Amino acid sequence: MASKVFSAFFLLSTFGDVSAFWRMECHGRTGLARIDPIMDAGVISPHIHTVHGSSGFSLSATYDELRQGSCSSCAVKQDKSAYWTPALYFQDSDTKQFEIVPQVGGMLAYYLLRGDNVTAFPPGFQMVAGSNYRRDYTVGDPKSPDPPQSDWAALKQTSQNDLEQRAIGFNCMNYHKEPEGSLLRHYLPEKEYLDANCPDGIRIELMFPSCWNGDITAKDHKSHVAYPSLVGNGDCPESHPKRLVTLFYETIWDTGNKQFHGRNGQFVVSNGDPTGFGYHGDFMTGWDVDFLQEAIDTCTNDSGNIRDCQLFVNNGPLQTDEEQNSCEFDVPPMLAQEDGSARNLANLPGNIQIQAGPQSATPGVGDSNPLSPIISAATSLIGGFFAGSPEPTTSSSIPAVTSSSAPVASTSSIAPVESAPASQQFGALAVPPAETPAETPSTTSSTSSTPPPPPPPTTTSAPAPSSEPGVSYQVVSTQTVTRGSLVEVIIWKEPVVYITEDSVTTVTVESPAVKPRRFYGRHAMQHGHHARRS
Ligand SMILES: *[C@@H]1O[C@H](CO)[C@@H](O)[C@H](O)[C@H]1NC(C)=O
Ligand SMILES: *[C@@H]1O[C@H](CO)[C@@H](O)[C@H](O)[C@H]1NC(C)=O
Repeated sequence: MASKVFSAFFLLSTFGDVSAFWRMECHGRTGLARIDPIMDAGVISPHIHTVHGSSGFSLSATYDELRQGSCSSCAVKQDKSAYWTPALYFQDSDTKQFEIVPQVGGMLAYYLLRGDNVTAFPPGFQMVAGSNYRRDYTVGDPKSPDPPQSDWAALKQTSQNDLEQRAIGFNCMNYHKEPEGSLLRHYLPEKEYLDANCPDGIRIELMFPSCWNGDITAKDHKSHVAYPSLVGNGDCPESHPKRLVTLFYETIWDTGNKQFHGRNGQFVVSNGDPTGFGYHGDFMTGWDVDFLQEAIDTCTNDSGNIRDCQLFVNNGPLQTDEEQNSCEFDVPPMLAQEDGSARNLANLPGNIQIQAGPQSATPGVGDSNPLSPIISAATSLIGGFFAGSPEPTTSSSIPAVTSSSAPVASTSSIAPVESAPASQQFGALAVPPAETPAETPSTTSSTSSTPPPPPPPTTTSAPAPSSEPGVSYQVVSTQTVTRGSLVEVIIWKEPVVYITEDSVTTVTVESPAVKPRRFYGRHAMQHGHHARRS
């Protein structure tokens, strides 16, 4: 029980401020290629990346080249940035062959407006988050929820090395349960766990450092930036006093696809990492600085929806999915024959070997002969997630998937979100009080005049909490979750006891292209009579 309360605290504290944000949708992938103009400028990158943003991306892309790209795979055409991360593969344990996991919906890049005097990225700014060669977790037991953020300093868990490990999240997607909070689990669950619990895939999350020393990059492309003391919140180190907009990536991988279900094998990140600890991401700004600064200063609607940002709308229209999906970069001839999405690959692209740790991975394997297939002598890792540690079980201590009794104060009036049992409703837990009084926008007012979308499956209606007399609510946090093509916003409010689902509201219905994509804003609200548990 204690751990559940801990977890609830963590969830809230992860999003425990009221600061605004906006969510850049990049539904198109500009390419899948061994290209990384930050870490491997001018040469072929060892491992393959999934890339989003400007079509100006290349082996040696510069800020100017990104700006000059003819299109963007993101919804806001002015965003000529480049966003990239490794891809996810499945290795069949019988054939030892690899196949890419389908990526769902491109990516989302959150621009979180946290801290004071949030600054736009200057021309040429670039950075990397995460460590490619990392294969272990050194900030406690990764199978247990993180301690409350308020304890991190006392536990001496605020070094940059510690924070970097907590900036990675693997979110188990099951649309029939309450969504997990972000950055709860810092490792890639093994396939058996994913098969049993995460039918809708895995969402990989990455928070970038937002404290800054003013340089556009550094030799290691990392040390010009630093995490604030709580990864996404908290204080900046004195060495990095300025605050950039906080970037947060989400990519969804369809590990639950029937293509994989029931097969023996493992999922592995394209850098040869089956643990997830070596997950990382790269960013190069392609924004006009003044335009981005104006977006930071004015796009502050609680919804986070870019359609609620006048700057984007007035300089629009926003790009349709079709437009986003038709934007690609030119693959250089030397990589033209490499198809990272081909079936039955003998090796990971680049002949990257799987290294499971816990010692750091070593570079170089296969790097120099990118196109000749070397039959893999990959270490078989089947059944051994962590050397020397017990197999993870389905009774993992990650809260959202634990079915043990939860300290839910009252479930009688909960409108189960998609029929999740109350004990599995992560959001149905008590939350700590807000530190600062927040404005109390009417959270049921987010209606829309656009045609109402069909309600999400199995959603039950519930009385709107704000219609209760005499109860006032404070927004303590907003959280956005992605469910396939649905983007939902959860507004965490207090006082709090249990969760109620509010009406479904339309954000927008995109162009009636081949596959119309709908976005719902669902306001799941917590309300009740007490907030504090200790
Ligand atoms: C933010 O900017 C204001 C006005 O320039 C300044 O007074 C203040 O010290 C700045 N705050 C930080 C944290 O830099
Ligand atoms: C936020 O966006 C919604 C939906 O467009 C709108 O109704 C609301 O007025 C906006 N809020 C603010 C503070 O602009």
